Order: sequence, then C-alpha cells, then structure tokens
Amino acid sequence: MEAGLHALLDSLIADKRAGAERSGVDLLGALVRASDDSGAMSEEELRSTAYLLLLVGHDTTMNLIGNGMLALLRHPGEAARLTGPEAGAGLVASAVEELLRYDSPVRDATFRCAAQPFTLHGRLIAEGDIVSLLIGSANRDEARFTDADLLDVSRTPNDHLAFGFGPHFCIGAALARLEGSVAFPLLLERLGPVTLAKPADELPWRPARVMRGLAALPVVRS
Ligand code: HEM
Repeated sequence: MEAGLHALLDSLIADKRAGAERSGVDLLGALVRASDDSGAMSEEELRSTAYLLLLVGHDTTMNLIGNGMLALLRHPGEAARLTGPEAGAGLVASAVEELLRYDSPVRDATFRCAAQPFTLHGRLIAEGDIVSLLIGSANRDEARFTDADLLDVSRTPNDHLAFGFGPHFCIGAALARLEGSVAFPLLLERLGPVTLAKPADELPWRPARVMRGLAALPVVRS
C-alpha cells in the first residue's frame, strides 16, 4: 500500500507541475510551489510531507468519527441532545471537543526525550530519559476533569490534550474540528434510530500503538 500511495502522490505532484493545476490554492499545490520557487523544501521533504499529511489527516479523523459515534451510541441521551431542541452550532462544537477527550483518536503522543532532569508525581525523570505521553489517560484525569469518565456533550471548560500541546500542537486541528462538526450531526440525522449490533466490548479495534480506532462499527435499526 505504501508504494502505491507514493506512486499516487508522485503523479499528483507531477500534475501540479505540469501546468494549469499549478496555480491552484490547494495544499499540495502550495507545497509544490514552496519546493520549486523558494527552495524551502527538497524533493524528498516535499514527498514525505505530502505522504505524512495524507496519512495522519485520514487516520486521525476517521478515528474521531468512529470512536465518537461509538460513544454517542453508548450514550443515547447525549446523542439525543445533538438532534433535539438544545441542538445548535455551539453544542455541536462542544460535543466534538468532548468526543475528542472521551475516546481520544490519538492515544499516545510521539516519544519525548527529557532535555533536563525533573520530578513528576514523585518520580525522577533523568536527562536523556525517553518519555511516553499517554494522551488518552491524561484526558480522563480525575484531577483535571470533573466526572472524567462521564460523557457530557456540553462540558465546559474542556482543556483536553487530544491535539497535543506546545510547539508540536496538531496543525490539522481546525480541519479535524470542522470534519467532526459536519459528520456527527449528519450521521445522527441520516442514520436515524440505530443501536450497536453487538456488545461494545466485542467490537474489533485496529491494532496500533499510537492511534486508537475501530476496525468496524456494526449497527442495526432500532
Ligand atoms: C481528530 C483528528 C486529529 C487528532 C486527534 C490529532 C492529534 C495530533 C496530536 C496529538 C499531535 C501531537 C503529537 C505529539 O506532540 O507527539 C498531532 C500533530 C500533528 N498533526 Fe494531528 N491530529 C488530528 C488531525 C490531523 C489532520 C487532519 C492533519 C493534517 C491534515 C494532522 C497533521 C498533524 C501534523 C503534521 C502534526 C505534527 C505537528 C508538529 O510536530 O509540529 N492532524 N496531531
């Protein structure tokens, strides 16, 4: 699959360079221009950036929609709030934040290397130690969130870490939020009354360390 994706991106990049498409305002076109006009990117950086954006832009939002729909199916009362009289852009926006927190699509951040020693919860992290940051766990921290295990689509404040924090904060956060705010209300409306086709603890999850997402979410009309 990887070779196929690289071949696809190579041909898209060639199309951008070929002519008319080059003037477009699309992301790939902008990357090609940055690479060609200013020399800001080497050919290898261009290819790998395009590949990275395609992969992380797809897997993550797919997990947001899958995990989020599962959470809503398991909490029909909360799902009903998104289609009932209380519904509106404000509630949808806070629901997306809550679904990102409740079952985080990216479970672990990339590894970090401690630049200096520090103590965290009584444990010394030495300079050079490799640290794994568990986003999914932080987002259920009882010390940070009231009733952390409860799904509340109107939760405020909701300072979750689903998109990371600091210099490496997700560059696709705005796009992901937009996708979620379109997908959830539309799916709830179009699917109508549905329930899980099998018990939640029997659902198949895709094997992965960093990502957390379902392999399938079977439903039946209720
Ligand atoms: C629900 C959807 C998404 C979630 C939960 C998510 C989550 C994250 C997280 C947690 C990080 C920080 C990782 C770390 O610090 O180790 C990150 C970084 C990043 N994300 Fe996302 N992401 C999502 C969607 C997207 C999309 C749609 C794109 C691109 C189209 C994207 C591109 C990136 C890139 C390029 C980085 C690296 C930023 C850097 O290192 O400076 N993400 N994302």
